[in-house]
Amino acid sequence: MAKMWQGRFKKELDEKVNDFNSSISFDSRMYEHDIQGSIVHVNMLGKQGIIDEKDSKVIAKELANIYDDLASGELQFDMSAEDIHMFVEQVLTQRLGDLGKKLHTARSRNDQVALDLRMYLRSEIDNILGLIKKLIRVLVAKAEENLHTVMPGYTHLQRAQPITFAHHLMAYVEMFKRDMIRLFNCFDTMNECPLGSGALATTTYPIDREFTAEYLGFNGPMQNSLDGVSDRDYCIELAGAIATCMMHMSRLSEEIVLWSSWEFKFIELDDAYSTGSSIMPQKKNPDICELIRGKTGRCIGNLTTLLTMMKGLPLAYNKDMQEDKEAIFDSVDTIKLCLSTLAPMLDTMTVNCENMANAGKRGFINATDCADYLVKKGLAFRDAYKITGTLVSTCIDKGLTLDNLPIEEYKKLCDKFDSGVYDAISLSTCVNGRGVTGGPAPDAVAKHIQKIKDTVLKEDEED
Ligand code: ARG
Repeated sequence: MAKMWQGRFKKELDEKVNDFNSSISFDSRMYEHDIQGSIVHVNMLGKQGIIDEKDSKVIAKELANIYDDLASGELQFDMSAEDIHMFVEQVLTQRLGDLGKKLHTARSRNDQVALDLRMYLRSEIDNILGLIKKLIRVLVAKAEENLHTVMPGYTHLQRAQPITFAHHLMAYVEMFKRDMIRLFNCFDTMNECPLGSGALATTTYPIDREFTAEYLGFNGPMQNSLDGVSDRDYCIELAGAIATCMMHMSRLSEEIVLWSSWEFKFIELDDAYSTGSSIMPQKKNPDICELIRGKTGRCIGNLTTLLTMMKGLPLAYNKDMQEDKEAIFDSVDTIKLCLSTLAPMLDTMTVNCENMANAGKRGFINATDCADYLVKKGLAFRDAYKITGTLVSTCIDKGLTLDNLPIEEYKKLCDKFDSGVYDAISLSTCVNGRGVTGGPAPDAVAKHIQKIKDTVLKEDEED
């Protein structure tokens, strides 16, 4: 395809350099937004009398045809074109002749690419938000089924205090809720329109930037043209939000890897979401979780790519910025893939309540409650802590737990103990007693679930 800028040059571009310079192989995915932006731009040119209004209508109509032809597959992308912006304009000019050449009046590819990318990412944010919501819905449903499923809570991966599986899952719901907030914020911040920035210093034509911004669904035009063409904060913010959400999915994946091991056996993944080994017939591997954990690395890498790409760039546009797209597109594709695989995997997993409860019985996770029992009888916490520590040590020596250590042993260390201690340290008492906001008691978790249903998941019920 002949270059648009050929007037200035005496030679054709070297073929390898053409390929090196070209971005159409990855920016063609923005064709819909590129064409939308061009239609609104040309409508504005007509409205402002910058080009003849009739001409603007013909151009807008042909752009819509090009969109249809690309969407139906009738028109193929020309991979020798420099980028999607050049490609659409060239097709337009092939179809309309000289009229097509008027589209690029008062506009530069620099503001075009900034516009397209914002519009494309806006729509992808909506898609990602929808997928996170689906994941939250699955987690909430699993939590509801497991309000009373007692399991050990961990610190340092050592059994610490009793909680419920519902409480554990709802911790992830909070993380994903914050991820949604980050994405909403990101959408709002990026929702300003760069179109009209021109190459870097706007234009002398009487364009109407408020009009184009409004018709393209933005809150308004960007206020500085240099910033308009050279800002990529929105890519960085989105890559950051995605990396954070991936990190949350990765932590959950890591837990599922642990929970599905023979050592834990807390859950079992559905066969449809597990893989076997080519040599060991007994294996059932949590590959999906490991891949999510692995792919988190590349999303963190993409954020680093973008920050590094931008950090040394003078104002305004520099071609380095073409590197933004592969990084942010990869993050977008990766998170969508992971979210839409993780949700059904969680939905179909089986929870082994008995093994969770059994794990809770070992590891002295009710020791804090034993100390608290003494505090409630008037002892200072530090004294109660020490006595309980000695009790734990006695249990270890005798191969017993706090639940079956005879009351005489308790009384030897402190006369405040009576047989009521067994009820006070039963796992269900420990869990039910933690009913403060944010606690694992079934009532507290049920309230949390209701809150999520009334807020994050509300629109779904209305749909
Ligand atoms: N393909 C380019 C990019 O992705 C579009 C902008 C090109 N502008 C220019 N002055 N070469 O950034």
